[in-house]
Amino acid sequence: MISLNDLSFRYHDEQSWIIRNESHDFHPGTVTVLTGVSGSGKSTLLYLLALMLSPTGGRVLDSGDVVSRWPDFRRAQWRAERIGFVFQDAVLDQSRSIIDNVLEGSLFRPGPPPIERAHDLLEKFGVQVDPLRKPGEISGGQAQRVALCRALINSPSLVLADEPTGNLDSDTADIVWDALEEAATKGATVIVATHDRIRASKYQHQLIVENGRIG
Ligand SMILES: Nc1ncnc2c1ncn2[C@@H]1O[C@H](COP(=O)(O)OP(=O)(O)OP(=O)(O)O)[C@@H](O)[C@H]1O
Ligand SMILES: [Mg+2]
Repeated sequence: MISLNDLSFRYHDEQSWIIRNESHDFHPGTVTVLTGVSGSGKSTLLYLLALMLSPTGGRVLDSGDVVSRWPDFRRAQWRAERIGFVFQDAVLDQSRSIIDNVLEGSLFRPGPPPIERAHDLLEKFGVQVDPLRKPGEISGGQAQRVALCRALINSPSLVLADEPTGNLDSDTADIVWDALEEAATKGATVIVATHDRIRASKYQHQLIVENGRIG
């Protein structure tokens, strides 16, 4: 279980708190949806959960371990083993092919690269382009799905997805949401930031990020 414990965060010298003294548990096997107006702090919260940002106060725990206080190298190892992260704007390596971008998610995994699984994921999400193309040669929605494949390649136990359907038509978005639900059904903790209020309202675990509060 991933937990926020009395967590507070503000960026460097900024006055305003993005999150203020918030506590919350995220359980395995659930999809939690984060909503809130643009600029409210959804991405920031995901970065804190991924240990890419350090709390200004309070802590992030993984099954009771205070992971947010771990040294950098241990946090990086924890991220590689535990997390699949989908950035809001995909953030693919422009110098490498699509297939290599997907496989990048498995770099720290022992054994040969899971090439077949990478192709299966691209097919599942309908990325029907030459996998040797570079990210600059595909559409924004395709890039977003490549980022999702990269995040899911290791079947991570914690999936953090920032607007993973922002650039997608509704049928393709359905495929993505189904895959996120499937990951949760298999036991992952899934946390998704979205502006899709209608979709979010279908989920039992919904958090609104607003004025430093999540709830
Ligand atoms: N590196 C940074 N330094 C200072 N302020 C930042 C930084 N990154 C984000 N912010 C500010 O923090 C606030 C929260 O940003 P964040 O990106 O978490 O919002 P969001 O809810 O994800 O918004 P959106 O829906 O537009 O993606 C915003 O006011 C933003 O301007
Ligand atoms: Mg955001």
